Amino acid sequence: MPYYVTTPIYYVNAQPHLGHAYTTIAADILARHMRQRGEDVFFLTGTDEHGEPVALAAEAQGISPKELADRNAARFEAMMPRLNVTNDFFIRTSDPRHIRRVQEVMQRIHDNGHTYLGTYEGWYCPRCADFKNENEIAEGNTCPIHHIPLLREREENWFFRLSTFQEPLERLYAERPDWVAPEARRNEALSFINSGLRDLSLSRGKFTWGVPVTWDPAHVFYVWFDALLNYYTALSFAREGEDLTDTFWPANFHLIGKDILKFHAVYWPAMLMAAGIELPRHEIVHGYLLLDGEKMSKSLGNVLDPFDVIDRFGTDALRYYCFREVSFGQDGSVSTTGFEQRYESELANDYGNLASRTIAMVNRYREGLVPAVATDAALAAEFDGLPETVAALLDRAEPSQALEEIWQRVRRLNRYVEERAPWKLARDPEAADRLDETLASLIEGVRVVTVLLHPYIPESVEKLLSALDRPSLDYAGAGFAAQGWGTRVSAIEPLFPKTR
Ligand code: MSP
Repeated sequence: MPYYVTTPIYYVNAQPHLGHAYTTIAADILARHMRQRGEDVFFLTGTDEHGEPVALAAEAQGISPKELADRNAARFEAMMPRLNVTNDFFIRTSDPRHIRRVQEVMQRIHDNGHTYLGTYEGWYCPRCADFKNENEIAEGNTCPIHHIPLLREREENWFFRLSTFQEPLERLYAERPDWVAPEARRNEALSFINSGLRDLSLSRGKFTWGVPVTWDPAHVFYVWFDALLNYYTALSFAREGEDLTDTFWPANFHLIGKDILKFHAVYWPAMLMAAGIELPRHEIVHGYLLLDGEKMSKSLGNVLDPFDVIDRFGTDALRYYCFREVSFGQDGSVSTTGFEQRYESELANDYGNLASRTIAMVNRYREGLVPAVATDAALAAEFDGLPETVAALLDRAEPSQALEEIWQRVRRLNRYVEERAPWKLARDPEAADRLDETLASLIEGVRVVTVLLHPYIPESVEKLLSALDRPSLDYAGAGFAAQGWGTRVSAIEPLFPKTR
């Protein structure tokens, strides 16, 4: 089955921070998991390079917007392998192939009668590149997200007849209750729609850093139209000589932060309806990573650099921590102390130590051979349905909840070691069978959780599965086997060394 997952495309007016890494890792978790299940996955990320925020940032640095875009897009692109993210393509909206396709689709919207020339007057945040409604304005005419004064804008623009999509959007929300998740975000988008939709500026005449409006080249498209279309345009040129649109469109999941809900849950479906293009299946909205109680953001200056975190704790630890510390969908605080604690107590102790101990015991008591005996049925029963539960949660894009399910089994295996105390069994010749069963069961339990952990901590998983001589990530093999395999394990360096 084709499966298409996307991240927002990141503004190039700033460098990547942990917030950007967060959404990207979430998408990678889904993509890796679906590949384990044998699905045909396409995973897209990239950079949003046009618009006023970028033009302003470039001006402040005395360089051209394209130079700034090239410089920062390269930083985002370089972040992907550092995060061990397996995106199939990285789209840049300054790519001429994207520009051409945007023009085609927008022309279609124009030809279908959904545009008109009018005058915009109202409040605008240059950092959000967003025209604010009255109920989206904070104290003293400021932006509630960036805390900067809003600008009073008056200009002649092309408009998109968003108001005519009031009913079709209401119908969409009524017919597809899972179109936006979680539910609180769905309700937020719906109440925005219910408050009455107003037509939307479609072009800007004040600056030139954007995609020229085909029917009025003195204007460029409002950056959000250009940006949202990336999800669709990318498929037409991501693979040389091939158009993947028919295979992967509509997208299964757009993952987004809650700051860009309105654009994805209201404007985007209306645009697609106007162009006669099928709608994506789900918008999945996550919360903010907070640092010192505030949204981590470049403009507030409270950012954690993902590269620093990786240098200190490793990529797997970063990937794990983000989805463990903060429940995906909610806001949550992250901190260096939090990293240290989870690294020590969960990755190093609960998991890393469990794996090393188990392998060490097989080496010590059974010369490295996993006993080919029946595994403990009672323990196996506690793993019953686990792969299905994890898959069902990830089908709903709930990576933290899926991780919690897996981690409960990691903890169960630790308790099993204590209950069975293999070191005592090893001293009792009568208990040889019980020791065989214990070791075979522990190894199998470790293997199962490890296969399931692949999307979260891929590097450690690869090392551990190869030490177990069972490298397959295939989801069909994620069930708890009834029989030990009689194969040989090899010693392994600590997966999460304590000395970092
Ligand atoms: N360019 C637009 C998106 C266009 S999509 C067609 C944009 N870019 S952004 O770089 O400002 O932010 C993009 C995304 O980064 C957010 O929606 C969110 O997914 C992620 N995050 C940025 N800061 C974040 C946190 N502090 N916490 C969690 N995610 C955050 O908006």
